[in-house]
Amino acid sequence: MRKKTELFKKAGVRNVCPRPSERPIGVFDSGLGGLTVFRELRAQLPGENLVYFGDTARVPYGTKSAEAVRAFSLEITAFLLKKKVKLLVVACNTASSLALDQIRELSPVPVLGVILPGVEAALAAAPAGGKVLVTGTSATVNSRAYSRALAATGARVRVLEKACPLFVPIVEEGWCDRPVAEAVAREYLLPFRKKKVDALILGCTHYPLLKKIIARVMGPRVRIVDSAHAAAARARLDLAERGLLNSGRLGWSQFIVSDAPERFSALAMKLLGIKTGKVSVKRF
Ligand code: DGL
Repeated sequence: MRKKTELFKKAGVRNVCPRPSERPIGVFDSGLGGLTVFRELRAQLPGENLVYFGDTARVPYGTKSAEAVRAFSLEITAFLLKKKVKLLVVACNTASSLALDQIRELSPVPVLGVILPGVEAALAAAPAGGKVLVTGTSATVNSRAYSRALAATGARVRVLEKACPLFVPIVEEGWCDRPVAEAVAREYLLPFRKKKVDALILGCTHYPLLKKIIARVMGPRVRIVDSAHAAAARARLDLAERGLLNSGRLGWSQFIVSDAPERFSALAMKLLGIKTGKVSVKRF
């Protein structure tokens, strides 16, 4: 008699009763920017199954109140938990800044935000007594989540912060290489060049796509810290420590958004070269 799993496979049923390591990682963001974190997870953890949720109906989070961002984040967390995820990655810096504690209270599985990995990477990049510049949405900067996390490490660094709200629409317009992107980056960041910054944290999902321009404006002495990259590296370590790494064959990816799946799919390809395949819709 053929094994049950073979019969399910033949019938196209996937992961009937997956082992804990085969359960997916849930990743969520306010929209498509979190694909920078998805891209890093895919590159650093090729065997993992990934479920990505983008809240395209309610983006942007960066201009919303803490209450709204928390309520949205909790709804999405509950939704992803139903997908039996083994780890939840909060790719959105704004949600990581404002809602991480509440998400952790709700989630029985480990929750990883992008703030702490970004802070650790910045401390590795800046010397003791050095200066770290945090960039992000207005909500992230106003929350002071990065500066509090930096202070909590006890490291002797000075923290400067700058909200750069126009970066998000510039990226979504596909204008990362246009002169306007550099002009806006100069407007926001040139005053900090004189302040002898050692490391700059890209504290927003979209900013890694402007990394080259930001690096050019800040000059060669400034190390640019990508929280998306750091978060994926931390996810790998966490899963390894818990014996939950899924290695072997290539993992699958699933994309779900709360609105406009075609726009999401087209921008995923245009901005990051990610082929999403069919994108499903979940409305809240
Ligand atoms: N994903 C958001 C973040 O990383 C940026 C876009 C938004 O404002 O929702 O903060």
